[in-house]
Amino acid sequence: MMTEQESQLWWQRADLSYHGEALFFAGHSVEALAKRFGSPSFVYSFARVRDNLERVDAALRAAQLPAGYTLLYAMKANRFAPLLTSLQHTGLCGIDACSPREVEHAVSCGFRPDQISFTAGSLSRRDVELLACYDGLFVDCDSLHAINAWGQCRPGSEIGIRVNPAMGVSRADNDKLQYAGTAATKFGIYEEQLDEALALARSHGLKITKIHFHTGCGYLTPELSQWDAVIGSCLEKFVARCPDVTTVNVGGGLGVPHVASDGTLDLQAWSAVLHKHFGNRNLRVEIEPGEYIVKDSGLLLLGKTFEETKQTTRFVGVDAGFNIAPEPAYYNLPFQPLAPRRSGPLKQVTVVGNINEALDVWYRDAWLPELEGQESLVLINAGAYSASMASNHCMRGEMREFLIADPRTSSAADTPQ
Ligand SMILES: Cc1ncc(COP(=O)(O)O)c(C=O)c1O
Repeated sequence: MMTEQESQLWWQRADLSYHGEALFFAGHSVEALAKRFGSPSFVYSFARVRDNLERVDAALRAAQLPAGYTLLYAMKANRFAPLLTSLQHTGLCGIDACSPREVEHAVSCGFRPDQISFTAGSLSRRDVELLACYDGLFVDCDSLHAINAWGQCRPGSEIGIRVNPAMGVSRADNDKLQYAGTAATKFGIYEEQLDEALALARSHGLKITKIHFHTGCGYLTPELSQWDAVIGSCLEKFVARCPDVTTVNVGGGLGVPHVASDGTLDLQAWSAVLHKHFGNRNLRVEIEPGEYIVKDSGLLLLGKTFEETKQTTRFVGVDAGFNIAPEPAYYNLPFQPLAPRRSGPLKQVTVVGNINEALDVWYRDAWLPELEGQESLVLINAGAYSASMASNHCMRGEMREFLIADPRTSSAADTPQ
């Protein structure tokens, strides 16, 4: 039986753990990082990003896919330029982009247009014209409207179509994280629209060589059977009816643990699902994870502003609010707070930000050690959909980002000591 104290340490791993009383991340004392970078600051470890990427790459290899695979990083998760440039240098992945500005940014970070796959909806005329400027960029059309607009701009080209199998998958069935399900969503072409989509593509001489689907985010091992069903359904309803298809993009959505009861995603089981569907098919598999690659590579360093008991709740305030890392507030995804130093018994506190909104609560009833004399707090899992989704609400959008280089591939000169 785990003690309360031990169960609070579910997130520990080799590069993020307490050594004695001090919390260390990527080889650095968190207290020292907070002193050096100030707050609020996001700190990403490229060593962790690389490990995550290599783990997924190994799982794809293990799936023994006869037509091979392509690993794309969904840059909407985190577009910090040093991180994208470092990813490009690994040579392990291309990019999944979802706006013309993202394409431009990925290219400026060293990716070639032919390493980028574009999937997005509600495209304006101007969006389509901008995308058409990039020779080699591959575009997945997510609606009849997009097929028509792309066909007018680039008749005779190859396209993908994003499809919607009317079934989704997500962390703990969180419907805010599902892109497809029983209720209609804006994402992708439905089965009943497929005939019209094929006719429209034909009318512009477009060849549909890819089927794309991404039906939700954050799935872990218990949800793998749903993901398996989504793939089976898309193969049967869509791929089987598109004779020119050579590639199937099974989306992103691979999740990481957020609370003690979440296990890590079993990549061996994940790989077995891919092998089951594609091990005997001459179809290239494409995946486009964001969260899995970067989420647990990032900490948010926060300055402590106050501690006060109101009624029966002990509040701890910090110098940034939900607007700079919106997932906890928008999607009920808990970002566990940690103290840079751990001593004495744990106490329950509620961590809140500096924004005038009732939803500005970072974490209710967190177990934290004595904070007297500590100047900062950190939140884990802040590497994805945090800085990239930040807003300037209440004019409190200021924050900074830092990438700690991977010591295995960088010289001592560019690694903070
Ligand atoms: C089309 C598409 N692909 C990939 C992703 C990346 O998802 P995740 O970060 O959950 O892996 C998203 C995110 O919403 C998406 O919309």
